[in-house]
Amino acid sequence: MRLTFKLIGYPIKHSLSPWIHQTFFERTGLEGSYTLHEIPGEAVFEEEIKKLRDAEVNGFNITAPYKQTIIPYLDRMDVTAERVGAVNTVSLEGNEWVGYNTDGIGYVQALRDKFSDMDRNKDVSILLLGAGGAARGIFHGLIQAGYTNLTLANRTTSKCEDIILGYQSSVITLAEAEENLAAYDVIIQTSSVGMNEAKQIIDLKNLRKDTIVSDIVYQPLDTQFLKQANEKGGRTHYGHTMLLYQAQKAFEIWTNQPVDVYGMDEEMIAKIKGDQ
Ligand code: ATR
Repeated sequence: MRLTFKLIGYPIKHSLSPWIHQTFFERTGLEGSYTLHEIPGEAVFEEEIKKLRDAEVNGFNITAPYKQTIIPYLDRMDVTAERVGAVNTVSLEGNEWVGYNTDGIGYVQALRDKFSDMDRNKDVSILLLGAGGAARGIFHGLIQAGYTNLTLANRTTSKCEDIILGYQSSVITLAEAEENLAAYDVIIQTSSVGMNEAKQIIDLKNLRKDTIVSDIVYQPLDTQFLKQANEKGGRTHYGHTMLLYQAQKAFEIWTNQPVDVYGMDEEMIAKIKGDQ
C-alpha cells in the first residue's frame, strides 16, 4: 500500500519535513509521499481539513499556527497530547483521527541520544527557560521520560505555574535563574528569544563548565545564547533536532516501524546553514 502523509500549517514553503520523511521512506523501504498542504488562514481551515478527510490520508503533521485549531476535528487524543493541549501529529486509525504530540518527547530523545549521562541519570537538575507551547511540550516530554528534578523560569511566572499544575516542580524568575545558574545540570531555552536576532533570554555569566545547554531556536543555529554557552565551557545542543526527532516519532506512529535518524542531523545543519 502506498502511504500518503501531509503537513499542514502556514507558512510552510521552506519546511524541511518533506526531505526528512522522504529519507525515512528510503530507509524503511516503505512506499509513499509526504507533501505540503498549506492552509493560508483560519477562514478556510474547515474546508481544507475536509479535503484531507475525503482523501483518506494516512496521517499528517500540524505546525504553527494550527496545533490547537485541529483539536475539535479529532476523534481522540493520546494522553501526552491531552496534557500538552496541542497536537502536531494525526494518524488515521480505522476510521478515526487520533491526535498525538511528538514535539516534546522528540526533543527529549534528541538530548538523551547526544548526552549519555542524561540518559543514565533521571535526577539531573533541569532548568526550562520560557513558558509557551514549546515549554509545555518539553516539560511533558521530560516527565514522560522519567525526569523528576525540573525548574521553570519565565518572564511571566504565572505561565510556569499553569504548566506545572499537578506536578512537583519549581518556578523561579528569570533573574533568579541567571543568578543561580550553577545549580543546574541541563538548561533548555524554549522561548522564541534569539530567533533571527542577537538577543538572549538570560545572561549565562554564572554557567558552570560542562553544563548541557540546549536552545530550540534554529534560525540561526548558532544563537547568541549558545555562543555564550560555548565560551563558558558548556556542552551545547542545537534546536533543529526537535524537528528531526518529532518527525521520527510521527513516522513511527504512522507506520509502526522503527526508523533511524543516523547522519541526518549533520545534513540538516548543512541545509539550514545554506538557507542563512
Ligand atoms: P510559543 O510559540 O512557544 O507558544 P511564544 O508566544 O513564542 O510561545 O512565547 C514563548 C516564550 O517566550 C514565552 O515564555 C514568553 O514569555 P512571556 O510568557 O513572559 O510572554 C517568552 N518571551 C518572548 N519574548 C521575550 C522576551 N523579550 N524576554 C523574555 N521572554 C520572552
